Amino acid sequence: MRSSPIGVFDSGVGGLTVLRAMRELLPFEDFIYLADTARFPYGRKPREMIRHFAAENAAFLESMGAKLIVIACNTASTCADFSSASVPMLGVIEPGVLAASAASNGGVVGVLATRGTIASGAYQSRLEARGHEVWAQSCPMLAPLVEEGLADEKEAQLLIEHYLQTRPKNMDALILGCTHYPVLKSAIAAHLGDTIQVVDSAFATANVVARELESQNLGSSKQQFGTIQHFITGDIQSYQHTANVIGGVDGQMQHLEIDALSGVTANTPHLLPKV
Ligand code: DGL
Repeated sequence: MRSSPIGVFDSGVGGLTVLRAMRELLPFEDFIYLADTARFPYGRKPREMIRHFAAENAAFLESMGAKLIVIACNTASTCADFSSASVPMLGVIEPGVLAASAASNGGVVGVLATRGTIASGAYQSRLEARGHEVWAQSCPMLAPLVEEGLADEKEAQLLIEHYLQTRPKNMDALILGCTHYPVLKSAIAAHLGDTIQVVDSAFATANVVARELESQNLGSSKQQFGTIQHFITGDIQSYQHTANVIGGVDGQMQHLEIDALSGVTANTPHLLPKV
């Protein structure tokens, strides 16, 4: 089990921001990354649908031998059934909340995320429970912008300005509550100035994964650098292109038919969420 890969999934390239952080912290681990680009975006689809996608994705990763599954997507993290897999499954919300809470000095904590994540109230309730006042803004255009490889274009500046327009003056920390947004981190930080801490959950999540591996005695005992295998449900070339635009990522890439994903769950119905 210790030499098995860590399974990671997102609706597209966003989760690569989490994968990168994990690679840095856990260089000897192997990873399987599932980019469900055929069903992108997750952020504006009904919760039940995303819950189903998350179960299929987790079942696929489990069938590939994953020893632990990381839901590198906020939208899916807010609605996944974490007991659907028989291996540990971790999301990105809690680590992001802890990081933002630590970064705030008592001012308002802002959250930028997809419609689905904001509507779930997952960040708001956790932050409020920690005594923070919260400003939440859904940004339905940002993930598609990143997915199209436009993060460095002027369109990104315009949308960032648009979504941050109504932010409160006393906001002192801002969570990037979608794993696609760290790609826009420097543009967002430049727009906000240096009195506001911009927080993403990538490194916080990587730390949680490292602790989980340690506590479950699941860490790789290899002493050579791990590998990455990417499975892409949509167009492989455009995934490769966008991955390069946002800083590149190594590993082998292969296409995965959506039917193969549902095939896995047909053979393992117990992995589907109970309705
Ligand atoms: N990267 C995903 C997230 O963290 C969402 C992007 C999308 O599919 O809408 O929420």
